Amino acid sequence: MSGDNSFVVVANRLPVDLHGTTWTPSPGGLVAALSPVLERQQGCWVGWPGMPDEAPEPFRTDAGLLLHPVRLSQADFEGFYEGFSNASLWPLYHDLIVTPEYHRQWWAAYRDVNLRFAQEVAEVAAEGATVWVQDYQLQLVPGILRQLRPDLRIGFFLHIPFPCPDLFRQLPWRDEIIRGLLGADLIGFHLESSARNFLDLCSGTGQPATRRIDAHVTTGDGRRVGVGAFPISIDMNSLGEGEDGGVDKLRRELGDPTTVILGVDRLDYTKGILQRLLAFEELLEAGALEGAVLLQIATPSRERIDQYQVARSRVEEAVGRINGRFGSMGHPVVHYLHQSLPKNELRTYYEAADVMLVTPFKDGMNLVAKEYVACHPEGDGALVLSEFAGAAVELHQANLCNPFDLESIKRALLTAVQGLETTPELMAERMTAMHAQVRDHDVDRWASNFLSALEKSR
Ligand code: F6P
Repeated sequence: MSGDNSFVVVANRLPVDLHGTTWTPSPGGLVAALSPVLERQQGCWVGWPGMPDEAPEPFRTDAGLLLHPVRLSQADFEGFYEGFSNASLWPLYHDLIVTPEYHRQWWAAYRDVNLRFAQEVAEVAAEGATVWVQDYQLQLVPGILRQLRPDLRIGFFLHIPFPCPDLFRQLPWRDEIIRGLLGADLIGFHLESSARNFLDLCSGTGQPATRRIDAHVTTGDGRRVGVGAFPISIDMNSLGEGEDGGVDKLRRELGDPTTVILGVDRLDYTKGILQRLLAFEELLEAGALEGAVLLQIATPSRERIDQYQVARSRVEEAVGRINGRFGSMGHPVVHYLHQSLPKNELRTYYEAADVMLVTPFKDGMNLVAKEYVACHPEGDGALVLSEFAGAAVELHQANLCNPFDLESIKRALLTAVQGLETTPELMAERMTAMHAQVRDHDVDRWASNFLSALEKSR
């Protein structure tokens, strides 16, 4: 059982989603980061096409990437994707921002779907191929693949945080997940802290990983599994060219505000969207942001899950209330879009924004912060960034805030707005330093660091 692809990526989603008969780019940072890398490698991508019960034939994209769709039934979608992945693992790995639910039938669906993904990969991967497994939805795939195809070189990368051992130990199927991950030759995390959590967990359980050797775990059967931190980044070119005059046009359309403040997120309760709206509201109330507008672009996400519906209605209620209080006819103070925008349009928003607000309670990395910085090579603009976003480790010159503390968000936002006015040279110095960091540590560097470590790991 083997195919002819020497490099295979497997992720829950394909880089494009099927909507009826048309394909559109999939949401999220994982796809944004990996698509350009895979296109350059002319690799094969195994994943779900984004609609239950659909499994189109494999096809090659214009960029030369081979897409191999995996079918999920409606029951798989509910148990594996909405259930175990996004209502058990997602809140657990994001430090219980909402309470995770654990259900045996969701776990059974997760196991089953992971098995099917592994079987599909086993069929398309060439003898001795490199397989790169992505993210929390597929943590059992490395272990299953190791059994099906011991000839493969297997890497695993987690795109979200890995929690501290005390939280992880809540999971009824914790041993199975660890065994699944340890099927890989190399396990990558964004941050040292996540890698450390994983190593601590392995050294604490006494099974199946028994010993820690620097950044390795030795499994019960004597294999050494590499563990490391590889902070993901962006492709500096992926946002395309901004429209000529687009920034001026946008600012005119917004009524020439004094300050444009921007948020861009999947509509997810981890992102702290409500908190930033509340901070903005309190500053308006205090008369501290005269003439400012806030643009919030919230991409629809996981819309049938209760906690996402609650998050959305709280955000939309706050948008309505703030506009009702502080807007005037034809001039809202919060412009809110619940849609996903094409990359080049997003670029115009990033360029037009004086201040970018990125306030997650917890985030693996947050590529929006890096995209904003990438769009400000001249050093204009300011980034307000949560201490709990992985990006804060590299972008420490941002105006950092604690999103659990409204006063901290207000302080960081106000300092950013005033800093642009009163100390523009200092602000430019900080933005330029962040720009250089993102430019010099792009997604290609992330992928090649991971893949060369994987190469050396066996
Ligand atoms: O980065 C985390 C992640 O869950 C990715 O795996 C995924 O591509 C993205 O967010 C979007 O989430 P979803 O696929 O559930 O829409």
